[in-house]
Amino acid sequence: MGKIWNPSLYIGSILESHEHRVAILPKRIKDSMPSPEPKPGDKGWLYRVLEPYYSRECVENVMQAMLEGQISSGAAWPRKMVQEICNLYKVPVALPTSSGASALHVALLACNLGPQDMVLVPALTMVAVANMVKMVGAKPIYCDCAPGSVNPSLAELREKATPRTKAVIVCHTYGVACRDIVAIRDLCKEKGWWLVEDICEAMGTRADNGELVGTFGDFAVTSLYANKPITAGDGGWVHARDQKHHDRLKSLVNHGFDPAYHFLHFEVAPNAKMNGLGAAFVCSQVKTLPEVMEYRGQVASWYRQELAGISGTLRCIEQRQIDAPWVFGVETNDRRSRDELRDHLAVHGVETRNYFYPLHLEPANFYGDEVGVYDIVLPNAERLAQTGFYLPTHSFLQPDDVLYICTVIRAFYKSDVTIMAPPRVHHWVDVERSKLLKG
Ligand SMILES: Cc1ncc(COP(=O)(O)O)c(C=O)c1O
Repeated sequence: MGKIWNPSLYIGSILESHEHRVAILPKRIKDSMPSPEPKPGDKGWLYRVLEPYYSRECVENVMQAMLEGQISSGAAWPRKMVQEICNLYKVPVALPTSSGASALHVALLACNLGPQDMVLVPALTMVAVANMVKMVGAKPIYCDCAPGSVNPSLAELREKATPRTKAVIVCHTYGVACRDIVAIRDLCKEKGWWLVEDICEAMGTRADNGELVGTFGDFAVTSLYANKPITAGDGGWVHARDQKHHDRLKSLVNHGFDPAYHFLHFEVAPNAKMNGLGAAFVCSQVKTLPEVMEYRGQVASWYRQELAGISGTLRCIEQRQIDAPWVFGVETNDRRSRDELRDHLAVHGVETRNYFYPLHLEPANFYGDEVGVYDIVLPNAERLAQTGFYLPTHSFLQPDDVLYICTVIRAFYKSDVTIMAPPRVHHWVDVERSKLLKG
């Protein structure tokens, strides 16, 4: 496919050349889009940003599922998984799904949203959030982050609400609990809006009042992708606080099958089910989630301690009452130093990831009904997207690893800091994981 210069026909991903995809974008997007990703030194990454973490029990359960032919969504393992989720979150309804996005899709379908409906979403989150709102035919309305926060607060949501608002999606971005979640729940009740908590980055995260996030909304959805604290490789689930949603959700994850009449379908629905092998793999991890999150809290405290000396130049991610972010983020003073610091870390084998590019600026908005969305100005989300990134955060890290990573950071800011030899050799995580799997 050659050049397409008519914006109303523009779908960037069908253009073959990277230059053409970018060339037609508005200046505002071109000027703020992320730089190409840094490359690691000769030997590759010593520290990846995230690492899947699982035990021998997971592997044994998969083996058992295979030996017993319990491999589909209709097998015993997804049912066991449902019990584990319902116990942990103290909810009556949970349905395993094929991904976090599909969980969100069915939750939004269950909200019966239509073409006139608006859904308040954070601008600083993963693209699946806006995509799924669009896929049910509703309109995402992007909300800024509150000052000093990675999440919108009540004020940012109120500012964007209209008579057409029908639902709110709260994301608890990077595993930082939204500070106003209780007030947002109350507002949703008052207005009759659905509240969907997207806990894809916040499984096991606790709000300031000590409650698990995912227990405030009508629905909560999560992802079990391999970079999440517990994982099935890919997968997710949707849970609900009210038993009345069970039958509808069950039908919506499964082609709209009706429990009474096989092959009589009363609505159009996706197949969003999780297979039995994924459920077998993740089942025993659900009960370990509190432990995994406690470790995340320790990793965060090591980072905060080691980075304390460079405050003013580098700010650490928002700290809530229970501080255990899924990923440990930092914010530099400007875009240039963010990119240079990420390059410097990469040279020393440390992988990092930029904060999200805000959804209202995504090139996917550059066609169809969404044209012009990128003219909205959301200064806090836009600044974080330019200056924020996150560091390796996972269950294999020890204090020495964090010390090394933070020394590399300190050396970037102060030329007299000497970087010690790294405490690890390449592929060390694979060695640690094998130890876990051998039991
Ligand atoms: C906030 C948020 N929502 C939805 C998703 C989509 O999850 P999945 O990749 O499992 O579809 C993600 C992915 O990480 C996410 O971060």
